[in-house]
Amino acid sequence: MADLKVGIIGCGGHAQGHFTMVKAEPRMDLISIAEIDDQRLEQAKLTHEPESAFSDYREMLDRVDLDVVYIVTMPGHLLPIVVECLGRDLHTSVEKSPGMNLGETRQMLDAARKSKGKAILSVNRRYKPEVLAVRKLLQERGGAVQVAANYHKPPSGLQLPGRREVAPPEIICDAIHHVDLLRWMAGRTPTEAATAVEVYGHSWNGEREGTPRYNAVIAFDNGCHGTMMSHYGVGYRIQSAEVHTEDMSAYLDLTRTPEITLYLDGALCEEPLDLDAVGGPDFNETSHFADCILNDTAPWSPMEEAVKTMELCEAIEQGHRGRL
Ligand SMILES: NC(=O)c1ccc[n+]([C@@H]2O[C@H](COP(=O)([O-])OP(=O)(O)OC[C@H]3O[C@@H](n4cnc5c(N)ncnc54)[C@H](O)[C@@H]3O)[C@@H](O)[C@H]2O)c1
Repeated sequence: MADLKVGIIGCGGHAQGHFTMVKAEPRMDLISIAEIDDQRLEQAKLTHEPESAFSDYREMLDRVDLDVVYIVTMPGHLLPIVVECLGRDLHTSVEKSPGMNLGETRQMLDAARKSKGKAILSVNRRYKPEVLAVRKLLQERGGAVQVAANYHKPPSGLQLPGRREVAPPEIICDAIHHVDLLRWMAGRTPTEAATAVEVYGHSWNGEREGTPRYNAVIAFDNGCHGTMMSHYGVGYRIQSAEVHTEDMSAYLDLTRTPEITLYLDGALCEEPLDLDAVGGPDFNETSHFADCILNDTAPWSPMEEAVKTMELCEAIEQGHRGRL
């Protein structure tokens, strides 16, 4: 029997990634699932073989003794479930975006502060070993002076019937990954992200539905600067970042398996990144959350961080110009 008994709420497309990571984590056991869609519930029972399955997540929480809950619903469904789980002192993983807007994220933060359970926002880019290894190199050289991120996609799909009701605008619902990555790469210590203090956002809509366009220039509290481009309805799904500090530049292609091009002291660095120094090649947000719970340490993406990233996303979306 593993240390941590896990339940998963919402068994749609993205939950499959969480099922895989929980199965691969030896300190976790999948015990129970909850899903309101009968077909998905049946499919998840067959595929993942939990001990129990429920269509009502409250019934699962009443009847099953759990330590950890992964909530993997669309953003518009998250808030009451997150508040309920944290109210029951469960360790709770919250999918991005943390609610429909900053107000909902703040309510989750309130619930997290009152809870004996730990809360983590599942911003998985923070936990990629390649990202952590580049970040470590940056910090060894005094921290990033400039970070940049691109996050492009075909039309988002949020224009389809019923999606807007449960999902905020694209930069919040989706490109939040790279808004958060900017903050994380700009951070100066292993466990902390930088906080945006000034933002010049420029957002507009493409001619087709589901094709918003965003540019932003950001100043962080530690003197690092950032730029962000995110366009929907362009040629391809492209997720990349670049980071610079004294005599170091790194280009991160995160579109598929991460590919990193690193320049140190004026030359291309051919040495592979030292992934073992940052938890190993299999490290991810699930292993980090297990570490935090079992060692009683704070997650790197707690709800305080969720609030700061949501603030920055909303500022870019609103075309905010000036201090935050
Ligand atoms: N981190 C990533 O890279 C990444 C990628 C894709 C999606 N996501 C996020 O994952 C979340 C889910 O996305 P998805 O594509 O899996 O959506 P989805 O619609 O396929 O799945 C969500 C599931 O939650 C279920 N659900 C809703 N309310 C429920 C409730 N009260 N109790 C139990 N189940 C409930 C729905 O029936 C549905 O099956 C979204 O917030 C999305 O932003 C993250």
